[in-house]
Amino acid sequence: MVELAPSILSADFAHLAEQVQAAADGGGTVVHVDIMDGHFVPNLTAGPPIVKSLRKFTKLPLDCHLMIENADQYIPLFAEAGADWISVHQEACVHLDRSLHLIRNHNCLAGVVINPATPVDTLSQVLDIVDYVLVMSVNPGFGAQTFIPGSVRKIRELDEIRTQRRLNYRIEVDGGIALDTIPEVVRAGAEILVAGNAVFGHGDPRSNAQKLLKAASEATLLRV
Ligand code: DX5
Ligand code: ZN
Repeated sequence: MVELAPSILSADFAHLAEQVQAAADGGGTVVHVDIMDGHFVPNLTAGPPIVKSLRKFTKLPLDCHLMIENADQYIPLFAEAGADWISVHQEACVHLDRSLHLIRNHNCLAGVVINPATPVDTLSQVLDIVDYVLVMSVNPGFGAQTFIPGSVRKIRELDEIRTQRRLNYRIEVDGGIALDTIPEVVRAGAEILVAGNAVFGHGDPRSNAQKLLKAASEATLLRV
């Protein structure tokens, strides 16, 4: 099943609860929380307190995408704040295997993320210990950027490897996901669609989410 993970990066933080509720009413089933440190990526967002606040008003899984250095230092804090899923960047972790085990040891689903310039091959040694792989389809740091088409091939590659190696990780895609890009990423094998601008950037998050999910389910029918 394809799920929509609205990214709160493009939400109005002064009305976060209502905005997340509207996206959930439209069918969003995962709340994507972008954590940026101003070092690994050139932007700053939020930390564990916002996760703690979100935890109080939604039962949906909180998907914390850590775009930070020294992730090991902060993983326990995000878990304690109520994160359900935690992903770390391959490019930001010196000891990636250790970071992924740390996430699992805190009873969260563990995800690994790759930037647009990072090949899928770099994940070969960790694919059997992750619950999901997040393919960045923009360079991380900002919302509302243009989708990078080369990401589609990487999703397809991860889908093929999963079959060949009989692994169960799910495939998530993040960046520039909208009505025009959903068909190709879903057909390639993406199952969790992160969308910030397309949900919260304009109009009503509820109907935006509904339209995105409709496009995703139509594309699922065309998967071969
Ligand atoms: C970018 C973030 C994304 C961002 C996506 O660094 O990881 O989650 O919110 O935004 P859109 O959907 O607007 O491209
Ligand atoms: Zn993200």
